[in-house]
Amino acid sequence: MTRLTTLVDAEAVAKRAALQIARELDSARRARGVAHLALSGGTTPARTYELLAGELTDWEGIEVWFADERCVGPEDEQSNYRLARETLLSAAGIADERVHRMEGELGPETGAERYARALRARVPAQDDAPAHTAGDTGESEAMPALDVIVLGIGPDGHVASLFPGAPTLDADAQALSLGVHDSPKPPPERITLSLGVLRAARSCVLLATSAGKADAVSAMMGEPSRHVPASLLRRGRLSVIVDDAAAPPPPLGMSTG
Ligand code: 6PG
Repeated sequence: MTRLTTLVDAEAVAKRAALQIARELDSARRARGVAHLALSGGTTPARTYELLAGELTDWEGIEVWFADERCVGPEDEQSNYRLARETLLSAAGIADERVHRMEGELGPETGAERYARALRARVPAQDDAPAHTAGDTGESEAMPALDVIVLGIGPDGHVASLFPGAPTLDADAQALSLGVHDSPKPPPERITLSLGVLRAARSCVLLATSAGKADAVSAMMGEPSRHVPASLLRRGRLSVIVDDAAAPPPPLGMSTG
């Protein structure tokens, strides 16, 4: 079951999300020595990132990854890395070698390939994760398990840069990171984590604020569908934190009064 938390406004959402993310990172770090956090872009998580910077007294052992990136350089105003640096990474004093940005400037394919290699090299699979068989070689590999992935949601139900009905949703089960060429949200070229990596994460925290997200939030709580990529996330590991305006309507027959 998806955990849904509805709060009064965007500031309350950011506060709750920052607290939850910090707790999950701290407990992952205590359990395994290292915690892997992945960040999204967009406007919604910026305040959460600002608050998150002050939620942990030290950031030792936290490795920072990205859920997606636009194919621009790291200094570009559209860069998700730049957003993270300006809201979280600098304030928290996270060392550059622990920040694994998607290299958008390399383009969708090369950027995605390099990111997949980095993930495979540094993020362990969960011990009890079912292995899948890799092509002709017969080797079995389990997906890297990020500890916490922060996600926004588009009004069309996209998460990271996985868009409704896109071929990225049908990627090979082993794919970790994918190139996107025709994103309906600008810019068109992007790099995204695969659905497989999102589903293998120990926790996804999805944030939605404002009335423009209400239909997408309702749709993602319904039947899983390729037309609503957020509905394909692993529900038992998903927390959705929304403000009143983005909250799905109460089930029929339940009074709101
Ligand atoms: C991006 C994203 C994307 C974003 C949603 C919500 O880089 O565009 O990571 O998935 O989280 O589109 O964006 P907003 O918060 O701006 O509505």
